[in-house]
Amino acid sequence: MSDQAEKLRNIVNNMRISDKTLEQTKKTGSARVITITSGKGGVGKTNITVNLAIALSKMGLRVVILDVDFGLANIDVLMGMSTKYTMVDLVRGERNIFEVLTDGPNNVKFLSGGSGVEELLQLDRRQLGNFINNISLLDKLYDVILIDTGAGLSRNVMSFIHAADEVVLITTPEPTAITDAYAVVKMISRKDRHKVIKIIVNKAETPKEAYDILSKLMLVSERFLAFKLQKLGYILYDDYVTKAVKQQKPFYLSYPKCHATQQITELAVNLFEGSKGSDSVASRGMKGFFSRLLNAFGGS
Ligand SMILES: Nc1ncnc2c1ncn2[C@@H]1O[C@H](COP(=O)(O)OP(=O)(O)O)[C@@H](O)[C@H]1O
Ligand SMILES: [Mg+2]
Repeated sequence: MSDQAEKLRNIVNNMRISDKTLEQTKKTGSARVITITSGKGGVGKTNITVNLAIALSKMGLRVVILDVDFGLANIDVLMGMSTKYTMVDLVRGERNIFEVLTDGPNNVKFLSGGSGVEELLQLDRRQLGNFINNISLLDKLYDVILIDTGAGLSRNVMSFIHAADEVVLITTPEPTAITDAYAVVKMISRKDRHKVIKIIVNKAETPKEAYDILSKLMLVSERFLAFKLQKLGYILYDDYVTKAVKQQKPFYLSYPKCHATQQITELAVNLFEGSKGSDSVASRGMKGFFSRLLNAFGGS
């Protein structure tokens, strides 16, 4: 393990960070925009988004979650909080970016998408400029933006994938979830040959089961699509996850010692460690994200 990874692990374990480390971890410039997605629904996107956000926040990163799962938006339910405003209020110019962000646990900020993205398409040039100016402030104030999307190959979801700096793709060991994840990779590989996709297997029974699936997905993707996937890690099936969901409290906080919490910590470290390597992704931030999104949506 590299010194950097060791250091991060210590940080997470001690849940304390020195100014020096903060300086090192925080990038100047743009926030890293990460879209979290899956082929099939119910694989754990929302749970992973919320708990990963908290883990990253404990590492000293400033995190915002953007919920754009139009039909099934439920980040707020999982965090046991209610939101006053959504992106719609921002898009309409009725609220500024600070007013539409809700405080979540452990300093994590939350922005509910609502039907904000659709409404963006109705704006004129001046209104769009105003919106982009507002949303770009997130690049200055935050390090990571995690975007929780819906499942599947809809145009909406594909646009969020296309627009993001990097993609975290989640599957479970179920054959249907795996084939659906592969379908997403296939679709991305056609349009976006250089997209960075990191895969997670969730609800695995054993680490071996998870690793076998990760390896298989990487292999078929490389062989049949000539597309390289990165493995981010796995989370085992854990009853504490379901318990925490019922209590509407992130398992990372309610059950800090459960397996899922430990594995989320590993994922957070991997996500960060990977970004230090030669294959690091250039962050284009929220400004870049929304510019690409509007292109993908409107073609304008
Ligand atoms: N590692 C896990 N172990 C056990 N149950 C899990 C795990 N991850 C997710 N779940 C359960 O799976 C269900 C779907 O999770 P959710 O995060 O809402 O998925 P998605 O956002 O992909 O639809 C939830 O009821 C949750 O409790
Ligand atoms: Mg969800």
